[in-house]
Amino acid sequence: MTVIEAIRNRRSTKKFTATPVTRDQVETLLELAVLAPNHRMTAPWRFLVLGPEARAAYGRVLGIRKALKVADPDAAHTLRERTLADTVAAPLMIAVVQVLSPNPEILEEDYAAIWMAIQNMLLGAVALGLATHLRTGAVFGDPAVRQAWGVADGERAVGVILAGEPDGAAEPKVRVPAAERTVWLP
Ligand SMILES: Cc1cc2nc3c(=O)[nH]c(=O)nc-3n(C[C@H](O)[C@H](O)[C@H](O)COP(=O)(O)O)c2cc1C
Repeated sequence: MTVIEAIRNRRSTKKFTATPVTRDQVETLLELAVLAPNHRMTAPWRFLVLGPEARAAYGRVLGIRKALKVADPDAAHTLRERTLADTVAAPLMIAVVQVLSPNPEILEEDYAAIWMAIQNMLLGAVALGLATHLRTGAVFGDPAVRQAWGVADGERAVGVILAGEPDGAAEPKVRVPAAERTVWLP
């Protein structure tokens, strides 16, 4: 598969089969991640391959936070349970942590590099026959999640990649054509 094909075939996918992702596949994704462009070669990332306990800690906190917006206690309980179940079920979850530079310019460059590393993993996953889904949000700053994952002061969990064999085909999202967002300057 070419990179162009991988870019065209990538879709965010929330439904995975139960087929496990192998350790070899995970290591390939991580190796691709650190090949991302990285100004000053700061290697600003840490990758947490989340096992059942780390996921459950996150899933519980996420469920509690989502359920706060639901008034009905039964519906809130169901939402907490479903969120926990969804979070532990994915064949693979990798959290990507940024080591925060005290220098604002480097901080911004490092954040960009983190997303390039994430994109490398998303495209590598396509080439391995895997689908992915990104999760971001304030939940990663929750003290209980930070503690469960060992995210230190001076670090930030930027997002989580879920990956696995896709269960069904996700529809492509419609894009604004590049031509509508492009100016060719003389
Ligand atoms: C920085 C970033 C954060 C994202 N966070 C989430 C998220 O928290 N939850 C979610 O469902 N999708 C998240 N996504 C995925 C986007 O919703 C998805 O890429 C978009 O809908 C386009 O669909 P596609 O990836 O299938 O092309 C995120 C994507 C990016 C780039």
